[in-house]
Amino acid sequence: MIPRLGVNIDHVATLRQARGEDYPSVVEAARVVLENGADQITIHLREDRRHIQDTDVEAVQLVTKRYGKPLNLELGCNDEIVEIAIATAPEWVCLVPEKREERTTEGGLDLVSSTNFEKVNKTCELIKEKSPNTKISLFLEADLQTLELASKMKIDAVEVHTGDYARAHLLEEDYSKYLTQFKAAHEFLLSKKINCHAGHGLTKESVVPLLENNLFEEYNIGHWIICQAVFNGLGNVTKDLQSLFTHYDH
Ligand code: PXP
Repeated sequence: MIPRLGVNIDHVATLRQARGEDYPSVVEAARVVLENGADQITIHLREDRRHIQDTDVEAVQLVTKRYGKPLNLELGCNDEIVEIAIATAPEWVCLVPEKREERTTEGGLDLVSSTNFEKVNKTCELIKEKSPNTKISLFLEADLQTLELASKMKIDAVEVHTGDYARAHLLEEDYSKYLTQFKAAHEFLLSKKINCHAGHGLTKESVVPLLENNLFEEYNIGHWIICQAVFNGLGNVTKDLQSLFTHYDH
């Protein structure tokens, strides 16, 4: 199976919000990446609406439906946003931790805290009850205690946080310990029949060792793609990554 490429287009909305204009269009971004081989669109509706807006969710969903590809809606466990996710009924939701003061999602959900565990667990149950066709993934560190706790919930996948690994790769530091952690996480999730996705901070270079080791079924990549699009165009960058992925058909 060729791993799936999910393209996170939040950063197109970030650019739009920076000037308060109605361009660049996230709808056009979704269309271009899907036209060029992306397997999924990922957007994060944040509580503070700093990039993706409520109306973007509906508009982008129309595009994903037109292309017959999944919409992956990232959200924190916030009542108002969960309600929107339920009303939207995307193919996937990915629950992430969210802090107002952070620049971007800084790490996986903390499930070791029993309060957090209960909150996330309740959110999963509510989504499964109200939108039974929506699959759920949890954004987590590749930590076995956390994964064991996650496996008790009604989830379909875990998206492993690759941010620290990607940074080590970028800085040309030794990243082998992350590959060991990812392998252990992958084996554990496989044993529980939970899909194993990856995301955060990945580039065309840092995704290669993960592809070579067949560690994940899906990769959600945003910032690098949008940055590279400044020089090469969004369609070309997507096509190029998608073609890289086809070399790793395990
Ligand atoms: N996956 C999750 C859960 C995220 O929060 C993000 C960032 O919004 C991404 C993937 C994409 O990360 P990046 O933009 O660094 O590629």
